[in-house]
Amino acid sequence: MPYYIGADLGTSALKLLLVDEGGNTQKTVSKSYDVCYPHPGWSEQSPGDWWDALVSGISELTDGIDKSMVRGISTAGQMHGLVVLDENDAVIRPAILWNDGRTAEETEYLNTVIGKEALSARTANIAFAGFTAPKILWMEKHEKENFEKIKKIMLPKDYITYRLTGKHVTDYSDASGMLLLDVANKCWSQEMLDICHISSEQMPSLSESYDCIGTLTPEIASLLGLPETVKVAPGAGDNAGAAIGTGTVGEGKCNISLGTSGTIFISSERFSVDSNNALHSFCHSDGGYHLMGCMLSAASCNKWFCEDILNTADYAKEQADITKERLGNNHVYFLPYLMGERSPLNDTDARGMFIGMRPDTTRSDMVQAVLEGVAFAMRDNLEVAKSLGIDISTSMLCGGGAKSPLWQSIICNVLNVTITLPSCEEGPGYGAAMLAMVTDGAYESVQACVDALIKTRGELTPDSEIAARYEAKYQAFKKLYPALKEVYKQL
Ligand code: XUL
Repeated sequence: MPYYIGADLGTSALKLLLVDEGGNTQKTVSKSYDVCYPHPGWSEQSPGDWWDALVSGISELTDGIDKSMVRGISTAGQMHGLVVLDENDAVIRPAILWNDGRTAEETEYLNTVIGKEALSARTANIAFAGFTAPKILWMEKHEKENFEKIKKIMLPKDYITYRLTGKHVTDYSDASGMLLLDVANKCWSQEMLDICHISSEQMPSLSESYDCIGTLTPEIASLLGLPETVKVAPGAGDNAGAAIGTGTVGEGKCNISLGTSGTIFISSERFSVDSNNALHSFCHSDGGYHLMGCMLSAASCNKWFCEDILNTADYAKEQADITKERLGNNHVYFLPYLMGERSPLNDTDARGMFIGMRPDTTRSDMVQAVLEGVAFAMRDNLEVAKSLGIDISTSMLCGGGAKSPLWQSIICNVLNVTITLPSCEEGPGYGAAMLAMVTDGAYESVQACVDALIKTRGELTPDSEIAARYEAKYQAFKKLYPALKEVYKQL
């Protein structure tokens, strides 16, 4: 049976899936790498580490299988990161990641001097610190010498595609997050390129996520031990990839992801813009569009609190005594803004905070508060979607955080939404493998692939009493950030 490789180029690790044509995941391999925080609020990674992870990961993934049966490969990657290559194809500086907050000034310049209206008219979005365009302006201002060396600009997963095929290509879903794409018309905005002092020659060519952009170069095929005929699909931004992997395609479907970031993703067949631009308006990888809210820290808050503060990786044990009766009754609140916040606050100064502790506060009250704080901040994004008239009564849930039954229940009741769990938890990697199948012609469209392969393993419905208790808690949570906004500026 033919095999397809789906890669999820995440922030903490590269996850690889070997999926057969029938949609069965035969093997997964994960290779972790470091994030470097050179200053508070900055985050960088070495593209070379991603590539090394891919090469060693594929060798492990395909060990023992008939490699001649591998037909396609595709990557869903962390979005917005700035990767720059010089004329010798060497990486000029470490990639500046999606959750890096160094560009407060450039973001402010774009939103006020160029103006939100003009940005939105050209790109369907306003500037957020993590987007790529402000990073390019930052580099021009602070690293002029590096800026002048730039021959090619790319997004993280496009670096992988480039090394696999020698082609400088991106897909529309990932390109949408650069603030350089005219999302409605699916082309680069020349005005935005001019504003960032870059040329279209430096930009990758654009394609749908499932178009075939070529095959492995002979050198890479031999390095990976794979046939030269393996087709490479451009892939997608990780959220658009996860949407494919959870069946969130077509009109009006929703997927919530609890990864390092937290996202709410609403698919649509038609282009639309949030009039306040709090939600991103991006292309989808099924050929359509989507609206998305992105929180910078979601499962990463739980990881930070358990691993770095409580010094344990036994999440299940930490959550064990948080029983149903305790849901909606916690007196401790947590603001999950460890890296500042994107949607809907757009505030690089915001930071994490516990509030409400008493002498009887326990360790598990605080663990619970972290999970709830992420859910409340996700609810802020849901409220924006609702204010646009979008009805979300049910959503898929994926990402590392979605493995916790407790967190599933908290999300379900805080959002007051029915939650469906996909059979395959590896949303972006599975979606990437599906895109590779469509590219290879195994399925005639993304929709046909979703119809054939996506299965669910369970559903949670809100409990009216718990949801009512959480509603009251959410009303209190909503008041915390506005009260602290000015204080954050001084911290
Ligand atoms: C989306 C975003 C994050 C990253 C995480 O806009 O910035 O979800 O893609 O990998």
